[in-house]
Amino acid sequence: MDLRVAVAGLGPMGRGIARVFAVAGAAVTVVDVDAATTARGHAQLREEEDVPVSVAASVAAAVRDADLFIEAIVERFEAKRSLLAEVRATVRAAGNDKLVVATNTSSLSIGELGVAYGDPSRVVGMHFFNPPAKMRLVEVIRGARTDPEVVALAREWVAALGKTAVLCADSPNFIVNRVCRPLYYESQLLVTQGMAPPVVDAAVRGALGHRMGPLELLDFTGLHTHLGSSETALREFGDPRYRPIPLTRRLVRAGTTGRAAGQGYYDYAAGKPRDAQASVLRTSQQSEVDVRVYRAVGCTPRDVAAVTGLARQGRVVVDSSDGGWVEHLPAGVGWIRLHGGFAEVVADEVAGIEPAHDAVDALGATSVPVLALPGLVVDRLAHTMANEALTLVEEATATAEDVDLALRLGMNHPIGPLEYLTRTGPAEVLAGLRGMATHFGDPRYRPAPLLVRQAAGSRR
Ligand code: NAI
Repeated sequence: MDLRVAVAGLGPMGRGIARVFAVAGAAVTVVDVDAATTARGHAQLREEEDVPVSVAASVAAAVRDADLFIEAIVERFEAKRSLLAEVRATVRAAGNDKLVVATNTSSLSIGELGVAYGDPSRVVGMHFFNPPAKMRLVEVIRGARTDPEVVALAREWVAALGKTAVLCADSPNFIVNRVCRPLYYESQLLVTQGMAPPVVDAAVRGALGHRMGPLELLDFTGLHTHLGSSETALREFGDPRYRPIPLTRRLVRAGTTGRAAGQGYYDYAAGKPRDAQASVLRTSQQSEVDVRVYRAVGCTPRDVAAVTGLARQGRVVVDSSDGGWVEHLPAGVGWIRLHGGFAEVVADEVAGIEPAHDAVDALGATSVPVLALPGLVVDRLAHTMANEALTLVEEATATAEDVDLALRLGMNHPIGPLEYLTRTGPAEVLAGLRGMATHFGDPRYRPAPLLVRQAAGSRR
């Protein structure tokens, strides 16, 4: 790669970014305000990869002849603003008008940083994922005034690193962190509503194939970081669906911010989240019971009458996540939600619902016990994520292809949220969201207008 790159900030991100460019053959210069960090970062880079990286004594020296400047300094607007002003002054003095200025910011506006730089046409977001050496995804963010040629160059460089770029408009939380908002909010709300964290995580891993459950992941990233991006989303969108969960604030205020703190949703002194999750799973036993499974997207009076009729003839279970069943499930009928070989089994003493283990055994599914809450766990999380993903497409923040690609590469999800939507069908996802909206009465479940149109289109 024939490119001169200057990287500012030698925290984990700046170091990782410098490393991937150096490995790809670019001439890399690094600079950090802190002399000790610079020395340590430089030594680490040499040790890790033995690739040549130079250290510059000043920002001016680093950017004078560079083609690309990437800032990965602290996430504070004022710090970034004064750094960018310094870069701009050097560029002017040196006549380096080809310089592309990239920022690795997770939460600041690219347009605003462009104005801070003094020439928004040259500023682009290049949002790497942690750790940059391993993660294949880079979100390329175009500010409202970024030159299309600068965006094209950023994408070319990402490809030259052997990574995949997705294109995103200058919108809070960009793609991955935005689509995952509901995943985080709903999993925490489930805890507030009485579900144990290992149950939530085991259900998500078992049914959706995520490598980490959402609560384990929140603990890993740090609840304070999550709370920060929730506050950004709420402030910027002004939409109550993004409001943080009170439980998150309580945990952050108490200093129990996750794995690094030793405690968050899990207590790390007590054991690993994986062990806790494994302990709530139940493998099916051999069974000859004859069970009829009644699959229902909703809970209409017709569904209830049909189930009541079937129950007179033998053992029957409802396969549904609709919240209406909490009040209308006939006595003696079981309630499950099947996802291939994995089942959520409603076990709710308060609501008087016994777990239908016999049915799950007959179906040969692994299961986890869940409370009788609208959407249960899996549909609630998957449908709200699909709705958020579709909102991004509707508002032209990103294309459907890029949204799916971003979630697969950035989060290791086996399928993207929009592919999930296509497979499940917009009408079913819409019905699920409307059920949650009715039963919880919260704007978090408000369907995207595009989803309503898609569902209508699929019915015509
Ligand atoms: P960090 O806070 O650990 O490190 C920042 C480094 O920048 C420090 O070494 C500091 O001495 C240096 N610095 C501060 N002001 C400077 C200046 N004016 N000139 C040169 N160096 C300066 O940050 P981290 O975690 O490496 O993140 C850096 C950026 O990347 C932030 O904007 C963050 O939001 C973003 N980001 C972070 C991710 C993460 O998982 N940590 C993921 C993606 C983006």
